[in-house]
Formats: sequence, C-alpha cells, structure tokens
Amino acid sequence: MACKSVLFVTLGFLLSFCSTAKVNKHFFPQNFKIGVANAAAQIEGAWNEDGKGETIWDRFAMSRPERIFDHSSPQVAADSYHKWREDVEMVKEMGVDHYRLSIAWARIYPDGYKTEEPNAKGVAYYKNLLRSLRALGIEPMVTLYHWDLPQKLQDDFGGWLSPKIVDIFADYARTCFELFGDEVKWWITINEPKQICEAGYGTGVFAPGIVSPGVGNYKCAKNVLLAHAKAYHIYDKEFRKKNQGKVAIVIDSNWSEPASAKPEDQEASERALQFTYGLYGNPVFNGDWPAVVKERVAQRSKQAGLKESRLPALTKEEIKLIKGTHDFLCINHYTSHMVSAWYEAPVTDTSLTADIGVNDWMPKEWPRGGEGWFSVWAPGMRKLLNWLKNTYNNPEIVITENGLSDNTGTLEDDHRINYYRDYLSNCLDAIYIDNVNLTGYTAWSILDDWEWSTGYHSLIGMYKVDFNDLTGLGFLGSLLHTSPKSPRTAAW
Ligand code: NOJ
Repeated sequence: MACKSVLFVTLGFLLSFCSTAKVNKHFFPQNFKIGVANAAAQIEGAWNEDGKGETIWDRFAMSRPERIFDHSSPQVAADSYHKWREDVEMVKEMGVDHYRLSIAWARIYPDGYKTEEPNAKGVAYYKNLLRSLRALGIEPMVTLYHWDLPQKLQDDFGGWLSPKIVDIFADYARTCFELFGDEVKWWITINEPKQICEAGYGTGVFAPGIVSPGVGNYKCAKNVLLAHAKAYHIYDKEFRKKNQGKVAIVIDSNWSEPASAKPEDQEASERALQFTYGLYGNPVFNGDWPAVVKERVAQRSKQAGLKESRLPALTKEEIKLIKGTHDFLCINHYTSHMVSAWYEAPVTDTSLTADIGVNDWMPKEWPRGGEGWFSVWAPGMRKLLNWLKNTYNNPEIVITENGLSDNTGTLEDDHRINYYRDYLSNCLDAIYIDNVNLTGYTAWSILDDWEWSTGYHSLIGMYKVDFNDLTGLGFLGSLLHTSPKSPRTAAW
C-alpha cells in the first residue's frame, strides 16, 4: 500500500502529500467535516469467511466473469477484512474527520433474513472497526446497503423487484441500529438507488443483472424508497432519543449542463436532473415522484399501448411514509454532461434514456479520468449544489462521494490532485458565494478497490494497493514527496 495523495486543503486547494500531511480545513467553515470513504464489497474480500453469505455481486462476478472488465471478483478485493487495522491507521494518518464505510448485510444475516442471533463474527468485525475509529476521534458514517444484497433474497423473491424486501431490509436496519447505535451517529440507509435500480434491474449491467428497462428499474425505485423510509422511521421512533444520530439516503447525480440558453435546452437539463436525482430526491424531500417523470412515463406508456404507466404509482400513504425521511441531503457526484432537447426514441424503447428524452454527451474538450472513466468538469459541482439547494428548500448537504479514477498504474497523482483542488474550490464558492448549506465532503476513495464491473482496473484510491500481494511499496510521485510510510506495508 502506498500513498498517492492525501487531502490537504489550503487556500481552497488540495495538495498532495504523504504520511506527514493532515487535512487542513482552514478555509472551510469551522464545523465543516472532511472524510474519506469506501464500501464493504469493494475492499473487504473474505467473501465467504466467518459465516458471511453469498451476495448478488459475488454471484454476478463469479458465475459469469466476462461481465467484469478484467474478469475479477470481489473475493479478495483489498483484503480489508483482515487488514482493517492498517486501514484505520491510514485514515488516521490523513487526519480526516470521518470515515464512510458500509456494513455487508450478508455478514450480519448470511441469507439476508433476520435470524434469532446475528452472525457473531460479522458483528465483532464491525464493532472492532467502529470502536477503533471512534477511539481515534474519527466519526464513522455507516451505509447499511451499498449494493451487496444477500443472494438468497434475490433467489427467493427477486430482491429489490419485490415489495417483500421492504420489511426484510427494515429488520436488518433495526438490528444494525441496535448493535452499532452507540458507535454510529451518521447513518446512510441506501447508497445510490439509481445504480441499484437502473443498472441492476433496468439495463442489467450491474448485479443481479436483470434486464428490464423501464419496468424493473421503476419497481425497484419504489421498493428502495419504501425500505429507506421504513428504516428511517425505525430510527426515528426507537433509537433517535437514545443515540442522537442522523439518518439519510445517498443519491447520486451528474450535473446536466444545458447546451444553450434556449428554453428547450434549459428544460432538457431540468428534466434530466429530475429523472436522476429527482426520481429519488423528490419523494423524500417534496413528496411523490417528480411531476415531469410521472407525465413523461405515463405518456410514453400510453403511446406504447399500455393500460398503465410503467412507473408504479405511490399511494397517499406511501407518499406520506417517504416524505420527510431525511436529516440531511447526501449527494455522490463525479461528473457532468451536456444536454440538449429533444431525443425522441420510439415508444417501444423503454430505457431510462428514452424516457428522459434528451441528447447528452461529454464534450471532447473536457479532460477525462483514466481509461473508461468520466469527464472532469468541476463547475458542475457548484451548479449541482445550487440546484439541490433550490429544489429541496435549502437543506443541509453532505457530499458523500467525489473522486477520480486515474489508472495510470503509477504513483504520479497530479490528475487526481487537480481534480480534488478544482472540485473543492467549487464547493467553497457554493458555500461562501451562493450560501449553500454544505457541511461535509467525503472523498472516494481511501484506497484502490474492486470497482464493480470494472474490477481492479479503475484505480481510484488515494492509497495505492498492489493487488498481486495486497501490499504495494513504491514511491510517491506527487507533490511534496516525503518517504511513504504505509501502515499496511509495515504490517506485512
Ligand atoms: C459510486 C459508488 O457508490 C461507489 O461504490 C463506486 O466505487 C464509485 N461510485 C466510483 O465508481
């Protein structure tokens, strides 16, 4: 393990450093929190150890390796299940305020269903990790569901496609609140429902690989929102008083930059945002699906001769249950694209893209991350923060992910350093010039990981992992080079 860059904020810029650098938040408001993140399936490995059950990503990758860019699987990942102490040391070394991690549902309940006793070894793993972080003054931010559904729930009733999932998730959430509530003050119920539903149950490029465009993705969206809402209410009623924590859902969105000032392009941008952030954000913050989403999907369903809209309706009770289930707003943001009106696909095309109905592209002049990665356009961060502020009534906002994959395979990290500098400086403008109530920022990722369908190919960590021996020496190729002292390497 070697350090590629460490967040070091000064004059609104992020410089890269190693070992001795600490995050310097001088130019951020006093209580602003800066953290780093990762998720269970991407770093833990130990896929079938100590009672952990199989997940949809284990099955997805191992049953058909060609679905993953480098034919890899999350079996070993960065081996954090065994090396968590070194990871905690690395987080400490960076001097950040919080560490965002996720709990693997299948480590607590191997088949997903609540059992009399949760899996003791899984529970012990997270207790140790959480206590160690807190002992060092690092606040854990814990995601209950970061895409690793226990496979059994998929096999038994179709996972997120069935309303059965709602109570089963709620049971699991309650167990986590009970077990870890003393250690965790920041809870995230579900990470990036758009990817879970659209990629998992729409296009099928993510686990569990269900191809059902325009149908599965919307069914999944409804169940995800209900599951989130139930978990939120459980915390609110049974744990908030005692544990004094906060709960939210993490939603991801690109910024959609209108290609021109023409009203139709402005409207295309708004429509694209409502189909991405709004599909989940509107029910949670304002109640019900966004009007434009309801109208468009109903219209296209009708044109295709369907009796009902492909978008399942939310009943009054459901709207009530979901609305207001947020203590803050979370955004994962990586990239932007340009949009213009209209792209009218045949009504037989039920994909989300067709439902949105915009042309979108990433301009050639915008720099790219590593191969296969997105465009870099930092003003999109500030614009998106403003859109969130205006659309959702000026909520407290926390950026729960932002980062760049730059798979050069070296420790030269200038590209990532520039990325963080530019995105963070847009955050500062959003705070000080636009009065956005942004209270936290979380960089993705602390270390290189298993990046889902791109496997070990997208190197996105500030610490480099050598996936051949899970150590990785090397030298620091970025600014202000000091000799890298990697706790992981030392432990080996
Ligand atoms: C968002 C996801 O939450 C995370 O798991 C993933 O690694 C990053 N995007 C980068 O692709």
